[in-house]
Amino acid sequence: MNFVEATPETIARAAELLRSGRLVAFPTETVYGLGANALDPAAVERIYAAKGRPAKNPLIVHVAGSAEVLALIAEWPEMAQKLAAAFWPGPLTLVVRKSSLVPENVTAGGSTIAIRSPNHPVAQALLKAAGVPIAAPSANCSGQLSPTTAKHVLESLGERVDLILDGGPCPGGLESTVLDLTGSAPRLLRPGLITVTQIEEIVGRVEIAMETEGALPSPGLLAKHYSPRTALECAATAEEAGFLVNLYETAGLKVAKYELGNDPFSASAKLYAELHALDRGGFDRIIVTLPPETEAWRAIRDRLTRAAAEEESP
Ligand code: TXA
Ligand code: MG
Repeated sequence: MNFVEATPETIARAAELLRSGRLVAFPTETVYGLGANALDPAAVERIYAAKGRPAKNPLIVHVAGSAEVLALIAEWPEMAQKLAAAFWPGPLTLVVRKSSLVPENVTAGGSTIAIRSPNHPVAQALLKAAGVPIAAPSANCSGQLSPTTAKHVLESLGERVDLILDGGPCPGGLESTVLDLTGSAPRLLRPGLITVTQIEEIVGRVEIAMETEGALPSPGLLAKHYSPRTALECAATAEEAGFLVNLYETAGLKVAKYELGNDPFSASAKLYAELHALDRGGFDRIIVTLPPETEAWRAIRDRLTRAAAEEESP
């Protein structure tokens, strides 16, 4: 098993595999996805098995564009229409009520479906060639770091994928923003590359589920998630980071101090790739200084906090 460069020929082969119920990993503008035909429950089951993903964690369904959502949804609120017009194809996932055509295991038994149209030429070409919606979580074993290269996918899932399409490193580097549109106001379930500020410009006030609810707002949002194997610790300030590095080094540990830099976009693009690399560096600890509490850094703060969390529950 290896990965193949995405070309018209390998994309056609991947589309054929998807239509026959197999798993294909492919690049998107955020991270690599592990795809299956979203209308084939047996194929979708293979995703859960390959990732070791809990059955209660629903999948995102990928479509070429807004025209392809109709068969999948029971209703498409005006807010969804406006947001799709503004941000699709792009890293915004919309949660709406599902149609009966969508197999139960795609939505983990729930009545809502998460949908997005990815903005990556390989993902778009694959969706068009396959002619079916593609259910795809990030192409990594459950709970681990998301893959931003074909090599990361191979290292995490290996033989469990039927074909890995290599489209180079993902430009965005962080998973999509997930927004719930089933209530009266839009609710942020997972921060991502499209910021709350950008969404509010289109549809007004957005509720932040993570701030208002004690319980899990989204079935997949476990406290501990997106983690490197090496223990990761967040420091509130650069001084605290320096103090921690000193403390651990004095205790004889090999410590990596990870700097995010000043630009949230370039920090997102390289975050997972650098954590994957640090994971192979034989460190005992990774220390990161958390970025400022501003909108532009929200998704990175979220991922780092989850990577550092010790609890897998609730
Ligand atoms: O950027 C991305 O979104 C990538 C690429 C491949 O598109 N996909 C991705 O999928 O990150 P995954 O499975 O790693 O994360 C999907 C998230 C989970 O937190 C899941 O709980 C949530 O979306 N989700 C899926 N369906 C949902 C639903 N019906 N209601 C609420 N949350 C849902
Ligand atoms: Mg994931």
